[in-house]
Amino acid sequence: MEVKEAIKARRSIRRYKRKELPLEVLDRLLEMARAAPSGANRQAWELVVITDRLRLKGLVPICKEQAFIGDCSAFLVGVEDPHQKWAKVDLAIALDHLSLAATEEGLGSCWIGAFDPSRLAEYIGLPPDRTITVCMALGYPDEAPAPRGRKKPEELFSWDRYGVRERE
Ligand SMILES: Cc1cc2nc3c(=O)[nH]c(=O)nc-3n(C[C@H](O)[C@H](O)[C@H](O)COP(=O)(O)O)c2cc1C
Repeated sequence: MEVKEAIKARRSIRRYKRKELPLEVLDRLLEMARAAPSGANRQAWELVVITDRLRLKGLVPICKEQAFIGDCSAFLVGVEDPHQKWAKVDLAIALDHLSLAATEEGLGSCWIGAFDPSRLAEYIGLPPDRTITVCMALGYPDEAPAPRGRKKPEELFSWDRYGVRERE
């Protein structure tokens, strides 16, 4: 699958088949995150990978009762060093690389921003000098959602100066 095919095929998946993710697949995906660029190559992020079914189930109440999280195969908690300027950007790039690689492997993913930060921090034993930024559910899709709409190019892109919506 080409990168542009993966970008277009990726969807947020909110229904998963309960299945274990083979460790070699997980390792391949994590390696794609590790290869991501970062500000000054500081790589100011870490992932806590949760795959145990009971531990996955325990995430549901922490993540605003999003029940599908209990059925995914792996849940990645994105941790940043909050003192690093580009930490959030670094983490987002890494997880985006990972989600596209997951698409290529036939897996589904869903970014998870709806969670209780203090409860999740306690759940994973996070030290006080680290922050949870965003998470990602990964697993075998049990749905094939249609693409969601996107803003028009004119709403997103300017040419040469901000607000110049038409290319000369
Ligand atoms: C930072 C971020 C946080 C998100 N948090 C959640 C979430 O907690 N639960 C959820 O179901 N989807 C979540 N999403 C998924 C978005 O709703 C989804 O990407 C958007 O609706 C576009 O749909 P698509 O991913 O299928 O293209 C999140 C996405 C991002 C980028």
